[in-house]
Amino acid sequence: MNQVLRIAVNGTLREVDAGGFEHLLELLREELGLTGTKSGCESRSCGACTILLDDSTALACAIRPESVGGGRVLTIEGLADGPDVLHAVQQAFLDEQVGQCGWCTPAQVLTAVALLREVTDPGPDLIRRRLSAVLCRCGTYERAVAAVARAAATASARSGAE
Ligand code: FES
Repeated sequence: MNQVLRIAVNGTLREVDAGGFEHLLELLREELGLTGTKSGCESRSCGACTILLDDSTALACAIRPESVGGGRVLTIEGLADGPDVLHAVQQAFLDEQVGQCGWCTPAQVLTAVALLREVTDPGPDLIRRRLSAVLCRCGTYERAVAAVARAAATASARSGAE
């Protein structure tokens, strides 16, 4: 059955046929080709499918496509500041060599972005708490914590220079 939805994804209004898709994760990956959002458990446990919905983290495997309504979806593909300019958090993850297999990296990055939008200078305990929502089998949690702190310092430095 056809079910046409209009949803804003990465700043672009998309009209999609959501019929047959169980959750937003499937729709993003299979209909829109946004495979940066990863599938792990598909049961709300691992955090690999984390996206931003209206600036807050959300599990794409837990969202029915039709419930997105007029919400704004941000996936890792829409995060960079420009074609050749990574977002500060992406750059910090590269600089700290966080990614190993990389499966959880988009979710970790988006989780960090949401945190830094909320708290500009989070301490390591808060960073650890937030990142714990995304399981990483490679175990580079401490590098991820360092990357978020680095990104926070970069953002602070930027805003101090303006
Ligand atoms: Fe959604 Fe694991 S795939 S929480």
